Amino acid sequence: MNILAIESSCDETAVALVKDGRHVLSAALASSARKHRETGGIVPEVGARQQVLDIIPMLREALGDDFLKEAIDALAVTVGPGLIGSLVIGVETAKALAWAWDKPLIPVDHVVAHAYAPWINGDEPEFPALCLIISGGHTEFLLLSGHGSVQFLGGTRDDAVGEAFDKVARLIGLPYPGGPEIERLALEGDAQKLTLPRPMLTEPNLEMSFSGLKTAVRNVVNSGEVARADVAAGFQQAVIDVLLSKSELAMQQFGPKSLIVAGGVAANRALADQIQKAFGQKLSVYVAPLSYSVDNAAMVGSYAYFTNRPAEDIFELAADPNYHAKHVGTSRSLKL
Ligand code: KG4
Ligand code: ZN
Repeated sequence: MNILAIESSCDETAVALVKDGRHVLSAALASSARKHRETGGIVPEVGARQQVLDIIPMLREALGDDFLKEAIDALAVTVGPGLIGSLVIGVETAKALAWAWDKPLIPVDHVVAHAYAPWINGDEPEFPALCLIISGGHTEFLLLSGHGSVQFLGGTRDDAVGEAFDKVARLIGLPYPGGPEIERLALEGDAQKLTLPRPMLTEPNLEMSFSGLKTAVRNVVNSGEVARADVAAGFQQAVIDVLLSKSELAMQQFGPKSLIVAGGVAANRALADQIQKAFGQKLSVYVAPLSYSVDNAAMVGSYAYFTNRPAEDIFELAADPNYHAKHVGTSRSLKL
């Protein structure tokens, strides 16, 4: 089954043709991240205007000039969560194509789609799978009991991890997106040089908070006494400590057979190495590779194939920033 997948929830415009949820036949991606370097972060209107211009070229690039629409069995599109002006572009494009070609259209939850990175990387995680989704917009634990069976376990109360990386990067004068920049600078620093809080580390639930950590970093930076590389290393290690400790707690509680770590922050090597070291002996660990950790359309096509729930009426389908909260629920974490 070949699915044409579209992803436009944030600052990427991505299209992929995915066979049987596992094989990426072709993919194209345009990112406005470089544009957002100038503004130090995402300006939704600027991003969306660029995406309107990018969507048709990305479709042409992924499909090629001589594609056969008969070879496409269904379309899939991220309907939420994300920036509304960005989501609308992918959703309305997918609707137009599904209508014109008379194909089914499968709506996709962007956060859960991140968890499908292992499948498009050729792996087959065993269920139940504990998923740690860490991106610029989301930080949460999900339990995947089977395809299409997902439960929210807990998440951040304030900033997402990627957002915290981006904000701390800005505090120490690094460009957007901050995650890769902090990771690079942290290699030259000493994480032990400063004492930073590990918010909610000892609370017996899967809730997290990163805004206090960011404030603590700001105070350290304002004191002017610490080297930037040590700030980067100290902040990164504080985040990793929290994620490791909460993952351990989730494992004790839910006894998963595999652990999937995905979302843009999964690209962080220090995090990936420490997760592998801490849990690799206990269960199968799948940390998304770089191309499938950041936003991409292949994960959208994979999720769509495995869950296979086409919209009953494509004209009823609408971009919805609250899609994930409505379907999976993110307002409260489970009491452990
Ligand atoms: O999943 P993603 O591409 O977009 C969202 O859905 O949010 O994640 C983007 C986030 C950004 O905040 C970026 O700084 C972070 O992922 N990121 C990283 C690294 N690479 C990207 N954070 C830490 N270390 C990295 N190497
Ligand atoms: Zn994402």
